[in-house]
Amino acid sequence: MNNQTKRSQLIENPRRFNSVTVIGAGLIGISWTAYFLAKGLEVKVNDVRPDLEEVVLTGIEQIIPTLRDLGLPTEGITDRLIIEKDLERALNGAVVVQENGPERIEFKQELYTQIEKFVSKDALLLSSSSGLKASDISKKMVHPERMLIGHPFNPPHLVPLVEIVPGTNTSADAIEHAVDFYKALGKNPLVLKKETPGFVANRLQSALIREAIHLVSEGIVSMKDLDEIVTSSIGLRWAAGGPFLTFHLGGGKGGFPAFLKHLGPGLEAIWGDLGKPHLDEATVQSLSELSISSYGNKSVENLEKERDHRQLSILRTLSESTK
Ligand SMILES: NC(=O)c1ccc[n+]([C@@H]2O[C@H](COP(=O)([O-])OP(=O)(O)OC[C@H]3O[C@@H](n4cnc5c(N)ncnc54)[C@H](O)[C@@H]3O)[C@@H](O)[C@H]2O)c1
Repeated sequence: MNNQTKRSQLIENPRRFNSVTVIGAGLIGISWTAYFLAKGLEVKVNDVRPDLEEVVLTGIEQIIPTLRDLGLPTEGITDRLIIEKDLERALNGAVVVQENGPERIEFKQELYTQIEKFVSKDALLLSSSSGLKASDISKKMVHPERMLIGHPFNPPHLVPLVEIVPGTNTSADAIEHAVDFYKALGKNPLVLKKETPGFVANRLQSALIREAIHLVSEGIVSMKDLDEIVTSSIGLRWAAGGPFLTFHLGGGKGGFPAFLKHLGPGLEAIWGDLGKPHLDEATVQSLSELSISSYGNKSVENLEKERDHRQLSILRTLSESTK
């Protein structure tokens, strides 16, 4: 066996990252837990919530059908699960920590000063934070070198992307280790070159949802129709190509340069007209009511199942088309 084959076998084997500790068993933590277990890892889950065991087991149960659809083994997956309310015991022997606690900088800073007391100096410390910088989260740590962002997209058990965002003190070795970890799990880790609040995917989402809220609040389109406009046009395009490739093709034979020349001025004119809604009390109230009247006839659980089913179909088709 040559070195290249040995390395790729090592990279493809998630079990070398045993064991993983998941801190915070909310929406994201439970999804990661179920996925790590289905990939054969031993997982310790830690949270302060009193109903921890019930919420984790019920949550995993709900995710199992999607894991099966992904072709992952689910028989007896909770045999490798340890639910541990004590942080020190939960971190004992952890090779990787995936933290999914509340999105508050003071909370995370404090938590990481605790975490580093209880892990070996080689453990990889990954935060699922949706937008906080690793440099800020790790500010009070004595050894920030192994801490960085491993930001998944909801639901982590299904969506391939993980944004890897190192802090200013993160070591090159930790970045490589994080990429290897997520690749071994079959994810698509992408390393950002610089820290920025919200990273990339959430900044793009923020830009789109800001305009979507503006268009709905101004009565230009209904919430449901806006969703349909996205799924039947730009959503479809972006799943296949992304915005830059899409506009490269929008320029005909001249590509993106021709697109910029031809349609750039019109694009820029719209930028000046984009909405800047505020999430004040009245807007929040109105958007909440609209979401209930648009989607409240089905339970969130059912909507999640439908979403998983549709996203899986897209993933399968895309993977078939690139074979
Ligand atoms: N919700 C999303 O779509 C999404 C997507 C990607 C990343 N994230 C990020 O993931 C993280 C978790 O988000 P979420 O949506 O799962 O939140 P959540 O509120 O569903 O879960 C947070 C969990 O942290 C637990 N917790 C609170 N204090 C704790 C402590 N001291 N020790 C251990 N656990 C503690 C809570 O009990 C709760 O179960 C955040 O950083 C968020 O930005 C969220």
